Amino acid sequence: MSDTLTGLDIRPLSDSLGAEIRGVDLSQPLDDATAAAIRDAWHEHIVLLFRDQDLSEDDQVAFAEKFGTVGTRSRPASRRPEGADYNASIMLVSNIKKDGEYIGSLPDGEMWFHHDMCYDPAPHKGTFLYAMELPSSGGNTLFANMYAAYDRLSDETKARLKGLTALQIYDFATREVVDISGDIAQYKHCVQPVTVTHPVTGRRALYVNPLITARIEDMPDDESRALLDELFGFTDDKSLVYEHEWRLGDVLMWDNWCSCHARTDFPASDRRMLRRCTIKGQPLHE
Ligand SMILES: [Fe+2]
Repeated sequence: MSDTLTGLDIRPLSDSLGAEIRGVDLSQPLDDATAAAIRDAWHEHIVLLFRDQDLSEDDQVAFAEKFGTVGTRSRPASRRPEGADYNASIMLVSNIKKDGEYIGSLPDGEMWFHHDMCYDPAPHKGTFLYAMELPSSGGNTLFANMYAAYDRLSDETKARLKGLTALQIYDFATREVVDISGDIAQYKHCVQPVTVTHPVTGRRALYVNPLITARIEDMPDDESRALLDELFGFTDDKSLVYEHEWRLGDVLMWDNWCSCHARTDFPASDRRMLRRCTIKGQPLHE
């Protein structure tokens, strides 16, 4: 499918979400018409892929700036790897070590489905990830369409979700589900609506995920657990998910308000490095 105004070639990646955009070099300044066409495609397809890119840090930030104000990282200073080069807008997702220390974040292993920064009162809208070094296998990124995750729920469940909020909490140190039975003050956390209306598209999306959503507020623990387990059913529904196998030079941009993502495991002995930046968001409402 070609956009006749800009020449963009937009090809869906799956039945659930995602599209590849061909015919654009992201290292070059984007004209406004092309940026607008990409923005529209982003809101329609949720995840966009650009292959075979060659981007400097500045190129990547300049591209992201076409879609909003580039965000700074939320990781507390005490949790940053010592000695790593630090640019507040850029995060390296990497397991590579220099002088015994990781040069980036989220080094190894699988990661469960999550929305980036849902533990923040104003979650960043979009994430931009660029593949620089890749393992021999695995390390794929799975994306779930959270509009569709909401739509698949029964009318009864949808009615039950009205007005509900959930605790979103994240531990930068372990990247595992936080035990909330103790003092949670040390962890980044906030309360968010269980469903959100996307501020641009006006569509409703489910806004919970198994890594960061700890409980439904104002609900007994067992009921909260059962409801969350039902809502997390989207993670097993292949019809809602696109799995991206990275190639060097790939750039993915995704909408954090209506998708969540996960990572598959990969050999820890292989090097993997992706460069990430984000654009800022706003408080989300039901
Ligand atoms: Fe993430």
